[in-house]
Amino acid sequence: MLGQLLPEVHGPVPGPHSSELASRLAAVESPSVDARRAARAAQSGGAMAPIVYAQAAGANVLDADGNRYVDLAAGFGALLLGHVAPGVRAALEAQAGALWLALGDVYGSGAKLALLERLARLVPEPGARVMLGASGADAITAALKTSALATGKPGIVAFEGGYHGLSHGPLAACGFKPSFREPFAGQLNAHVVFAPYPAAGPELGPALQVVTRALARGDVGAVLVEPILGRGGCVVPPPSFLPALREACDAAGAVLVADEIWTGLGRSGAWLASLEAGVVADVVCLGKGLGGGAPVSACVGRAGVMAAWGAHGGTTIHTATHFGAPLGCAAAVATLEALERGGLPDRARGAGERWMARLRERTAGRGVREVRGRGLMVGVEIEGGAGRTLAVTRRLLEHGWIVVTGGVRGDVLTLTPPLDIDEALLDAFAGALAGALS
Ligand SMILES: Cc1ncc(COP(=O)(O)O)c(C=O)c1O
Repeated sequence: MLGQLLPEVHGPVPGPHSSELASRLAAVESPSVDARRAARAAQSGGAMAPIVYAQAAGANVLDADGNRYVDLAAGFGALLLGHVAPGVRAALEAQAGALWLALGDVYGSGAKLALLERLARLVPEPGARVMLGASGADAITAALKTSALATGKPGIVAFEGGYHGLSHGPLAACGFKPSFREPFAGQLNAHVVFAPYPAAGPELGPALQVVTRALARGDVGAVLVEPILGRGGCVVPPPSFLPALREACDAAGAVLVADEIWTGLGRSGAWLASLEAGVVADVVCLGKGLGGGAPVSACVGRAGVMAAWGAHGGTTIHTATHFGAPLGCAAAVATLEALERGGLPDRARGAGERWMARLRERTAGRGVREVRGRGLMVGVEIEGGAGRTLAVTRRLLEHGWIVVTGGVRGDVLTLTPPLDIDEALLDAFAGALAGALS
């Protein structure tokens, strides 16, 4: 049964049905998608024609031609429970028969209450408050507004390689690719300072210097950080990094925002990577996996900073038509329950350690610079740059393995499978990767 099966590709990739659908898509979606694909094809020296998904379950995807893949990208890490997770599907079906939309911040719903009560419990002190959104970028926007309200300061310290979404609030703090923000610079927050993201012990100094210098300027209200860089290439910082940021924020009266949209809810082997690092952030942003595939995100803040939202006599609010919609809330509650019931954060930690060891073993001597990560967010940095990395991705796709590239140079295979993936599939992938690197 579809879910935890090995790949089965029975023709060219893409097949004729995918090709036909993809060319129709290219004619109607933003030209940036096709332009990027063409650039990648030129970079890798091979075709980058896409497949089109038709159906999926668990870790498996079927394309429009019936080829079966193992999905190690899992919706850019969002499918913590795999595709069409039964518990989430049941919750969605039940909610779909009862209530789709309440009335935002005017009249709520039981589904929203259930989610907020659960999310508030993620903060290890009483009084946490939650603002929901639909995307990760929504949660970051809410966090940045919170820091401005709580401190009265517009400035942000963000990190090179960091990615927080592409709507205008988070885009100003996008250290992943300056080209994402530069054409829009005139529309963005101009008070953003980028610090280097530390990848190893000795590199903590320069990062902290930039952070403390920026905080000393007096106009910075927030330090926005991913506890482990996700899209930036699965970079794990030294253990002292987050505690040092906590200390710097406390000294300057700035808000520490942990962007756990990638790392959170078990992906990095813990419910929250910031707590695992010994730090209670002022605001934690969650998204991606929260809805088990449904679009819902959250900005969860400590009582002290969130109180700023109540201090304006109700004249300042942050809301949108679909924020807190019961369908997304029901999916999120079911996702959190399934993660807890299955002990999936712990499982991800163990499975990730075993997988990384296996990947190191199988790729030794085959042009891999590093295998790194935490839990089931694993990066394989490839020697030879983005072109070779794309070519490896392509070869893997042709053999039924879906992976994406990441890292600021585009030379990292970024692997984020469902947290309950069968470890036999992970082992099989290590062999497939060895082959694709040859
Ligand atoms: C760490 C992090 N923050 C924020 C976002 C933005 O989330 P979304 O794409 O849902 O807006 C992403 C997306 O990849 C992310 O990885």
